[in-house]
Amino acid sequence: MNILLTGGTGYIGSHTAVVLAQAGHDVVLYDNLSNSDRRVVNHLAHITGRPMTFVEGDIRDAELLTRTLRAAGIEAVIHFAGLKAVGESVDKPVEYYANNVQGTISLLQAMQAVSIGTLVFSSSATVYGEPQYLPLDEKHPTSATNPYGRSKLHIEEMLLDVAKSDQRWRIACLRYFNPVGAHDSALIGESPRGIPNNLMPYIAQVAAGQRQALQVFGDDYPTPDGTGVRDYIHVMDLARGHLAALGFLAHHAGWHAVNLGTGHGSSVLEMVRAFEHVSGQSVPYKITPRRPGDVAACYAKADKAARELGWSAQLGLEDMCRSTWKFQRQSESGSSR
Ligand code: NAD
Ligand code: WQD
Repeated sequence: MNILLTGGTGYIGSHTAVVLAQAGHDVVLYDNLSNSDRRVVNHLAHITGRPMTFVEGDIRDAELLTRTLRAAGIEAVIHFAGLKAVGESVDKPVEYYANNVQGTISLLQAMQAVSIGTLVFSSSATVYGEPQYLPLDEKHPTSATNPYGRSKLHIEEMLLDVAKSDQRWRIACLRYFNPVGAHDSALIGESPRGIPNNLMPYIAQVAAGQRQALQVFGDDYPTPDGTGVRDYIHVMDLARGHLAALGFLAHHAGWHAVNLGTGHGSSVLEMVRAFEHVSGQSVPYKITPRRPGDVAACYAKADKAARELGWSAQLGLEDMCRSTWKFQRQSESGSSR
């Protein structure tokens, strides 16, 4: 199948490109490079042994999108492109709505223009807001606590309306929990620009001696060790989830929301210990006040993905830490993106 990946040179898009290419699909990467590097395209060719088409463009450019969809004979779209930093979204809500919501509208217009109805959307567990019960299943009420989360929620709702309007649409909203790790080659991975917002890249930089200490945001949560609990999922497992979603959509029309998580929560201190164990480095940390907006615990009920997509996460914390550490060291030596 010919598949377009918006945001295809980004962290999750690039790993998904590997899985799709290795499953025999032809992948076109579409990205404006606002948060990724064109060297990823070469790394992907190296990993998969076949060149990959890259189009530099913005998802808000519906004309270029339409031309690209038509020229490449695209049959399905996986929509990763968007801005994703929660804190930044509070300061720059207009940019977030323009990129994420307006960008998705433009993508839908382009898809409609060339009659492509199969869409997998990168949603997030953030659409559940403050958990009312755990584990989070797909029936949990949705809400948003910041503009980033609200953009995801708006898009999901928009996609539901679109799917209701015409039976030819086949749409999966994949609600990712906390993606971490990297491809085994260490050629692609997560390369945050500036100070990492997320736990895993921050831990990796502390272990590498690039930062002095991790700040653990609160140790007074009602969790076993008092630190925040999250459902960390290996990015390669997540990538395989997209392939499974495409398989599902081949036989199911309509709108579907599915969690992609492991179903298992780990605390900040468990992550620190796992990383120290795998890397052999110490990860100094200090306890600081809670980060505003953080919840105590968030983890998935992953049964729907298993039942409907035939997918479940295979890789554990050790694999997540090992691949992150390998990518961190390779990045320092300058051979990755
Ligand atoms: P990323 O920033 O690495 O990848 C996103 C890509 O989209 C980047 O390459 C960026 O250059 C591109 N992009 C951004 N705006 C664009 C635009 N207007 N036009 C074209 N390209 C554009 O992020 P990621 O971690 O790979 O996330 C991918 C998707 O998954 C995002 O939609 C994100 O919100 C969602 N998501 C991520 C996480 C996470 O923790 N990483 C969790 C849940 C959901
Ligand atoms: C994990 C845990 C922190 C950094 C965010 C977005 C979410 C989704 C994934 C896109 C928490 C603690 C973190 C640090 C720390 N993204 N922490 N010190 O907050 O679960 O989710 O990324 O959709 O929408 O909100 O992930 O990695 O930032 O934090 O103690 O320096 O680590 O408090 O308990 P989070 P995270």
